Amino acid sequence: MAGRIPQSFIDDLINRIDIVEIVDSRVPLKKAGREYTACCPFHNEKTPSFTVSSPKQFYHCFGCGAHGTAVGFLMEYDHMSFPEAIEELARQAGLDVPYEAGTRAEANPARQKQSQDLYAILARADQFYQQQLRQHSQFQRAIDYLKQRGMSGQIVAEFGIGFAPPGWDNLIRHMGNSSALQEQLVNTGMLIRKDDGHCYDRFRDRIMFPIRDPRGRCIGFGGRILPGGAETHQDSEAKKPGTAKYLNSPETPLFHKGQELYGLFEARRALRDIPRLLVVEGYMDVVALAEAGIRYAVATLGTATTVDHLNRLFRLCNEVVFCFDGDRAGREAAGRALENALPVMQDGRQIHFMFLPEGEDPDTQVKKIGSTRFESDIDAAMPFSTFFFERLKEPLNMDSMDGRAQLASQAKPLLAKLPDGVMKRMMNQQLNLFTRQNPARQSSAGTRAAYRYRAPINRNKSTPPSLVRYILQRLLHQPALAQQADDLGRFSQGAIPGVDLLIEVLEILQIHTTLKTGSLIERFRETDKASHLQKLATWQPEVDDEASLVEEFTTALNKLEQMCLQQRYDALLAQSNLGPLSPGDEAEYRELFQKLNKNKCKA
Ligand code: UTP
Ligand code: MN
Repeated sequence: MAGRIPQSFIDDLINRIDIVEIVDSRVPLKKAGREYTACCPFHNEKTPSFTVSSPKQFYHCFGCGAHGTAVGFLMEYDHMSFPEAIEELARQAGLDVPYEAGTRAEANPARQKQSQDLYAILARADQFYQQQLRQHSQFQRAIDYLKQRGMSGQIVAEFGIGFAPPGWDNLIRHMGNSSALQEQLVNTGMLIRKDDGHCYDRFRDRIMFPIRDPRGRCIGFGGRILPGGAETHQDSEAKKPGTAKYLNSPETPLFHKGQELYGLFEARRALRDIPRLLVVEGYMDVVALAEAGIRYAVATLGTATTVDHLNRLFRLCNEVVFCFDGDRAGREAAGRALENALPVMQDGRQIHFMFLPEGEDPDTQVKKIGSTRFESDIDAAMPFSTFFFERLKEPLNMDSMDGRAQLASQAKPLLAKLPDGVMKRMMNQQLNLFTRQNPARQSSAGTRAAYRYRAPINRNKSTPPSLVRYILQRLLHQPALAQQADDLGRFSQGAIPGVDLLIEVLEILQIHTTLKTGSLIERFRETDKASHLQKLATWQPEVDDEASLVEEFTTALNKLEQMCLQQRYDALLAQSNLGPLSPGDEAEYRELFQKLNKNKCKA
């Protein structure tokens, strides 16, 4: 999640470290002119096309297009998460990472100490449960159950699976019952405090699945009821109130269900390269798939998939496959996952949906058909776009005009949530085909106007008009140019695509005058603007001449101002054709008229 680490710290950190050093310690670099080069670590090549720029604090491969900052490099190359990369860079720079209040670790040292204590307490609880699986007088019941579910000792150890014995105070007695410690145990969710102030163990007579953060620290547990114990009814599981089949740690300062994924740490530890990630529903599914040799399964913790989950997954690989039961509930859950995924479907990211036969879950299915067939079913999973339309079309009669109209009205607001790009364009085209509208009719005058200023160099329609691109390219090459832009209010009129982003970038650079390209782009991480800015940042001038760069930049800004004024003028003019303008608009209209004419004379 963005914002946990203060932005000022990230800016400062990226200004302090040197990307050349970071990359060079992993991929040895050679100096070539002003830049450094190597064979690209992200694709196979014999001649180097991977370059690292120290002034920009940015890397770029001309071969495969990989690019990014030092943070991005660590995330790609070392498979780190964003906070891990920041921690690593801070460690090298000899800094401590501060965390903003109200999040995982706290800026306040006392609070920070406290959350360190919480990690230590969970680590001890984790050890305790694992030890009980080998030592408790009833351990055989637990071991028999795990065996019956097909788990080997090796997988049980790898996932740190344990046993919370029956009884109300095993953990309390093991940990020692000072009141400070009990308070901490309540804070980690391991104990429940009754109204009378007394505490008891949350997890009793359960198989324990420790949930780990990306660094492998235990942050919570899932506990599965053990059949045959005093807590279950004889003939069925989970009937008695308060004895749900699975019990999870509650939300705590360390544990946020909407962000964590069970098995992600274990997957990263088991695999050097993660080919794709399979999202399943249950702890048992993750473990059973691992047992079958499929090491890239993770589970959400009894919640729907969130944007945070998806961003975390897509940092590690480009393909996420959701695996759901084939029944109605599974289809509904898949629908929710699909809608939550729309805003993160940037180009290059892939999502597939896999539906299991009714009555099966990944655990039972992989045992039934084996891992080879299970993996080929993953290969054959339904593409995102197919499921998107299938799901909407299913209840509609596509032969009727009414049905097609309904499809369009349901699909449009959803498609609008997709980030701009090839995927969005293709899905809109697909919708046009399904609704049998003429796609040509949709490219209205408005869209054409937006393309009028496109330079001949780039005809890719997913990018904003060339003038804004042109300015951003120079700005990303030389962030100090922002100081030439003075009053930004002059661009706020009109609605030229991309101008909002340009203004945002200029504002940041005018306030934070020492930002380099890399640290500027870092500020946009987790937004859909980041990849766009990264691509623009790979631009290089043909001749690196300071004076002509400044001139190109200011000329282009003036041209943009002119365009903005003209647009606003056109809008007011059109309005005045419909009826009299308000006195305010009337005055603005006159002012614009004069300004535009004056500028024309100057030009
Ligand atoms: P399932 O009920 O599908 O269980 O719950 P399962 O994974 O197949 O487990 P086994 O095979 O019976 O052991 C899937 C997930 O939903 C959450 C848990 O995260 C579980 O892994 N869940 C389920 C709960 O949180 N509470 C419950 O009572 C049940
Ligand atoms: Mn199951």
